[in-house]
Amino acid sequence: EYKNPLGVDIDLETGVIPGAKKLVRRLSDLKGYFVDEKAYEELLKENPVVYEVYAVEQEEKDGDLNFATTVLYPGKVGREFFFTKGHYHSKADRAEIYYGIKGKGGMLLQTPEGKAEWIEMKPGTVVYVPPYWAHRTVNTGDEPFIFLAVYPADAGHDYGSIAEKGFSKLVVEENGEVRIVDNPKWKE
Ligand code: 6PG
Ligand code: NI
Repeated sequence: EYKNPLGVDIDLETGVIPGAKKLVRRLSDLKGYFVDEKAYEELLKENPVVYEVYAVEQEEKDGDLNFATTVLYPGKVGREFFFTKGHYHSKADRAEIYYGIKGKGGMLLQTPEGKAEWIEMKPGTVVYVPPYWAHRTVNTGDEPFIFLAVYPADAGHDYGSIAEKGFSKLVVEENGEVRIVDNPKWKE
């Protein structure tokens, strides 16, 4: 039995994919993720939406593909820019492709040993996430940062290690500039 092909139009201004499953992540969903705990508690009074995901997902079978847009809002917790939780894939060898649609930001990637890479993203940027690399996107601008991700349907999300240990690097604002600095709370 063949599946039906599908064409959808992403709204390039809002990132919305019609008919997609919507997921909302508020600041309260990111407890323990930001280094500045005081700034986190303060902003929690407003509990802003940090990002939304519009996903078109298939059954978790090898060979099939999912795709999703993410709308990552601008903001900071202390000096740290708003980011997505970040994850490894449950099937760790599953790769992924990102494509920048709107706004400005980047991707922080990390190997299980803690080697980190930062790749800047703007509309039109393609990022290849190789097998085994954890990935988190960061909005370094002052408008929503919107991008598309395409990933194997059986990749899954493994949030545990990043939730506990974070990334070895932080993306912060320093004197009005974007800086990638060591995470003081990082431990191997
Ligand atoms: C995926 C993609 C991407 C990601 C979102 C939200 O594997 O599904 O990497 O769609 O899930 O940008 O980021 P988090 O899953 O890390 O919260
Ligand atoms: Ni992923």
